[in-house]
Amino acid sequence: MEDLASIRKEVKKAVSGASAPEALENLRVSYLGKSGIISGKMRILGGLPPEQRKEFGAAVNKLRDEVSNLIEGKKASLEAEELNKKLASEKVDVTLPVRPEKEGKIHPISQVIDEVTAVFSSMGFSVAEGPEIEDDFHNFNALNIPPEHPARQMHDTFYFPEKDGERFLLRTHTSPVQIRYMENNKPPYRVIAPGRTYRCDSDMTHSPMFHQVEGLYIDKDVNMGHLKGCLKIFVEAFFGVRDVPVRFRPSFFPFTEPSAEMDIGCSREGGELKIGVGKDWLEILGCGMVHPNVLKNAGIDPTKWRGFAFGLGIERIAMLKYGIPDLRTFFDADERWLRHYGFAPLDIPTLARGLNR
Ligand code: DAH
Repeated sequence: MEDLASIRKEVKKAVSGASAPEALENLRVSYLGKSGIISGKMRILGGLPPEQRKEFGAAVNKLRDEVSNLIEGKKASLEAEELNKKLASEKVDVTLPVRPEKEGKIHPISQVIDEVTAVFSSMGFSVAEGPEIEDDFHNFNALNIPPEHPARQMHDTFYFPEKDGERFLLRTHTSPVQIRYMENNKPPYRVIAPGRTYRCDSDMTHSPMFHQVEGLYIDKDVNMGHLKGCLKIFVEAFFGVRDVPVRFRPSFFPFTEPSAEMDIGCSREGGELKIGVGKDWLEILGCGMVHPNVLKNAGIDPTKWRGFAFGLGIERIAMLKYGIPDLRTFFDADERWLRHYGFAPLDIPTLARGLNR
């Protein structure tokens, strides 16, 4: 018993004098380890007379717990001390710029959607969204696309298996958002709807998944002059060129009447494409005055309201603006490509600052 008391004293002194975790670990081994001093006391227990055994055993156990707590407590306080020292001596400069090699990039598709949005919001358009899984009604019927229209053929459209007489599909264009927006909001409308679209098509210039932006402008006295002005302002702001020549060619879309395709002036001299100058033309988007049937199908009175719509391909204008030659590279998820063609994360496009810097 006296031995135990002196061991206690000894340990207390040694622990309080320890200045490093290694010293504490050595203490633990020499007192509590398999052949340690306290474990040795446990072993003599068997040789004691039964009446002493109980008392001595309890005392050794108590000592063992005390020593263990002492060592652990000291260890914790040493570690805390070390951490505090580290915190005091090492500083993080939060004002340092991000290391360039660690900086992520904005994909050109996201960038161009942001740029298009910036331009149209300056003209009072807001952004609408719709589902990528659509039904026949919104993707086709409501848009005045009759069942025998080529756009409905199986080779263009990704259909889901028919279920309970309903056949869902992956939207083939962003135009169904026009219908959904009109169903859920009161006119006048001034919205764009950017998003993913899908067609069974894959080659150099077609990807089964691609992006479009839809536009819809409905009010009381809207005419084709507004359509032309609005889209001309868009291409000039988007491409950053003044006085871009524009040309509207008659075309056909079931959901517009009249329908047109818009071309912009360009030059292809020396194999280099320049936008806004020269004698060549480049097709850029489809547009037209919204067909009365479309308004009717969405529950809007075509004798009171009218307006225009347009749709354009994001990849196409991204390739034109940023000189990206191959459509398929957009979706290869190649980091080197993204580092080359991507955009700095916090340079959010605005008209005031310039769309891209
Ligand atoms: N939805 C058409 C397409 O995918 C594009 C389009 C053309 C949209 C004319 C329109 C429009 O809103 O008026 O080819």
